[in-house]
Amino acid sequence: MEIHEALQWTDELIFDRTGKHLDSLQRAILEGVWEHKEYKEIAEEYHCSNDHVRKSASELWKLLSDLLGEDVKKKNVRSLIENGVFSYYNDVVHIGNNINICSEPYNNSKKKKNRSPSTPKTQPEPRHDLSQAPDNLRFYNRTDELATLKQWILTEQSRIITLTGLSGIGKTALARQLVEEIKDNFDRILWRSHRKFPTLNALQSHIIEFIAPTSPIQNQSLITYLNSRNSFLDYLRNHRCLIILDDFQDTLTPGELVGNYCPGYQNYGRFLEEMGRFSHGSCLLLLSWEQPLEVATLEAEDCSCKTLQLAGLGKSASQLLTAKKLQDQPQWSRLIELYNGNPLWLNIIATAILELFDGSVETFLSYPPLYLGNIEPSLKQHYQRLGESEQVLIRWLAKQEQPVEISQKPPELLSDSDFFKAIQSLKKRNLLYKSAALTLDPVMQHYVRNLTV
Ligand SMILES: Nc1ncnc2c1ncn2[C@@H]1O[C@H](COP(=O)(O)OP(=O)(O)O)[C@@H](O)[C@H]1O
Ligand SMILES: [Mg+2]
Repeated sequence: MEIHEALQWTDELIFDRTGKHLDSLQRAILEGVWEHKEYKEIAEEYHCSNDHVRKSASELWKLLSDLLGEDVKKKNVRSLIENGVFSYYNDVVHIGNNINICSEPYNNSKKKKNRSPSTPKTQPEPRHDLSQAPDNLRFYNRTDELATLKQWILTEQSRIITLTGLSGIGKTALARQLVEEIKDNFDRILWRSHRKFPTLNALQSHIIEFIAPTSPIQNQSLITYLNSRNSFLDYLRNHRCLIILDDFQDTLTPGELVGNYCPGYQNYGRFLEEMGRFSHGSCLLLLSWEQPLEVATLEAEDCSCKTLQLAGLGKSASQLLTAKKLQDQPQWSRLIELYNGNPLWLNIIATAILELFDGSVETFLSYPPLYLGNIEPSLKQHYQRLGESEQVLIRWLAKQEQPVEISQKPPELLSDSDFFKAIQSLKKRNLLYKSAALTLDPVMQHYVRNLTV
């Protein structure tokens, strides 16, 4: 790999995440280190002090380490790029070299392609990469949700589906089951946990390379290669793709009202707009704690975009308690109701009941108030993502014994505008159920009440 390609790639990465280009000293440092020069030599050539170069280099390595999730140092920066440890370049090279990354064989004989209206120019070999998806182990119920999702994806050909809900409610498990049931309708299925992609560019390149691997790229420069490709949407038009992005909330910034992107991720908003507004036969399935603003707008504009707010498992969660071998079955519905049918919370509480009361649900329930135990860290994560006005609102709501009406807001709590924005935001985070009568998630209400005591 040539130094100018490494420079351009690094510059693009940094610009994508910080909005700033490499400055001339950073470029000189990268060039110098590429040629195995000492900082002293680089400083002489750049006509500045050794300390200045050292300081700037250490800041650059720190920035690259943050962006790439790798411990970048002077001695490994070149080999990291060359060996393709940077995930972006690594993915391109891997697939460019036609390494098969399919995680499961595809049965051609079962193929029924009824999704896309457009016939691909060539019949591509179907390829599914579910290597980042969890195994679908025990899975109860969700019949209605699966039917709704299939209707949206297969019949209505929605372009973006967002599955939202608090952590542990079962988004990943449901999506995994869904993929199992509809996989034969797609040429390409790619499941990615969002955390693996440092930039939108990297994600798109990865998806493109997965959809349509090109010939090996060793003989052409990376930049020429990247520039020669079709637009992202062309790929989604020519192949029926299902792309699942799990943990999409990681693109959204905490501490503010819902929907603002983290630094470096802002272009995901435009990506969603493109996916939703322009015609193609593919589908993006987002799994997220929170609904992105663009999705809400696209949905309001009826742009082939749908959101399913996932509720708890309801009565069928009793299958989960049976598997845990709990006692006192008549009390189970109360337990399920208390923990909102959230399968993760019920699993955690069932373990606590086994540990504390030998599985007796009745004894557990005789101890008020609601016990949170190991659920607390997950509730804390949700709480810490809230903006200031949302925290004010949720603390006030947590103190109420009954659901309150919007009109009952005390004047000094928040301005009307901030109050309304906070309500909308909490709803998009799945923490608030209604807006006429404001009802908090009961478990979250209990957690926040304890905070305020
Ligand atoms: N329908 C279901 N049947 C059985 N177990 C489930 C179901 N949905 C979720 N679970 C279990 O609950 C836990 C949390 O589910 P997960 O899908 O990871 O939640 P989320 O993605 O919303 O955070 C996992 O252990 C999962 O196996
Ligand atoms: Mg999940």
